[in-house]
Amino acid sequence: MSRAQLLERITDQSNRANPYPLYEELRETPAALQDNGSYLVGRYYDVAALLHDPRISSDLHNRRAGMPGADRADNGGPAFIRLDPPEHDRLRRLTTRQFGPPHMPGRVDSMRGELADLVSTLVDNLEGKDRIDLVDDFAYPFPVSVICRLLGVPREEEPRFHVWADALVASIEPTRDSDSDAKMKAAQQAQMEMGMFMAGLIEERRKNPGDDMLSGLAADHHDGGLDTLELVTNSIMLFIAGHETTVNLITNGMLTLLRNPDELDRLKRHPELMPLAVEELLRFEPPVHLVPQRTPIVDVEVGGVTVPKGSPIVLALASANRDPERFTAPDRFVPDRADNQHLGLGSGIHSCFGAPLARLEGQMALNELIRRLPNPRLVEDPPPYRPNPVLRGPRHLMVDCG
Ligand code: HEM
Repeated sequence: MSRAQLLERITDQSNRANPYPLYEELRETPAALQDNGSYLVGRYYDVAALLHDPRISSDLHNRRAGMPGADRADNGGPAFIRLDPPEHDRLRRLTTRQFGPPHMPGRVDSMRGELADLVSTLVDNLEGKDRIDLVDDFAYPFPVSVICRLLGVPREEEPRFHVWADALVASIEPTRDSDSDAKMKAAQQAQMEMGMFMAGLIEERRKNPGDDMLSGLAADHHDGGLDTLELVTNSIMLFIAGHETTVNLITNGMLTLLRNPDELDRLKRHPELMPLAVEELLRFEPPVHLVPQRTPIVDVEVGGVTVPKGSPIVLALASANRDPERFTAPDRFVPDRADNQHLGLGSGIHSCFGAPLARLEGQMALNELIRRLPNPRLVEDPPPYRPNPVLRGPRHLMVDCG
């Protein structure tokens, strides 16, 4: 089959459980022009270079032709994931001041105790059950609670965020089923309700600040500060960017460990290896497979192929992570792999803002699950996958215990 249909095949649900042979085919060429006019790039060094290239825009306004489905995560407004410098840098800088810079102890480190409580309460709820769904019963509710705690949403309001987050996730899944219009409407409604709630909370925090991130953001007047609309949009982005990604890290992670019982056993005996294992999971089964929202603002060359200005570029992070030009034995899961500069959290100016939190959530969740689940076994392999080819992960992960 022609390389011009690679994206169509990668996004086809029947290939979701194992898209890796398609990525291997993709890496035969530096940039594959697709039937829909986009260019698909999957070699490590090309993807990394494009992520760092200032001529490649994240702002969809620079796009000549849309790629169906790819733009649905874009909810308009000034969320910095969809902005270019200098506006991106201003908003990211202000948000980072309250979050703590990557690799530095900051707010994330101070949340360790809270995260440990959340994880252990969720595992308490699994106890005594013979069969559990690691998606619905564990991974799905966890990140929403974490972002609520990070921002300082009052505990009693958290259940509403779980309902809103469900609706938002449904909207970023590019399903073509008959009720997709209804899902989009429900997502817009959820986003509006969440936005109104956040606006109220921000006003409240401006008057009575606490020590949460939202209070910090509301009180920060550097660089002109953030107005209420910017604060609302960027807070909602944290829920969208930090939810399904984290769910997928935990469930792809457990799936990989259950498929590699010797490694699971080793990690159980040596939980101190988990930080390295999480890096390897971010490489081997990354929660974000594709970055579909990039556009060159001038013609650019990718390995000798000219990508014309305005053409959508899709960066296949999951393919880059398995490139034998960069990684030794790329198709093997090696939990203590050295020299593991994967692209699972992106790279360059848009690299994952929540990376320290994502890493900690993954490490704590997986350590607690393997420590406490008695004799876990997969019920179905491969498990059923969500229809989302961008944020790829199981819809259910049924595990027998005991
Ligand atoms: C950006 C992955 C968790 C917030 C990104 C990007 C990737 C990524 C690949 C780059 C997107 C691009 O280049 O356009 C992940 C994964 C996660 C995770 C795999 C979990 C395992 C989180 C969490 C948060 C978060 C928990 C929030 C607390 C963001 C934000 C951006 C981003 C705000 C945009 C950064 C920017 O444009 O400057 N993430 N993410 N992510 N992520 Fe994450």
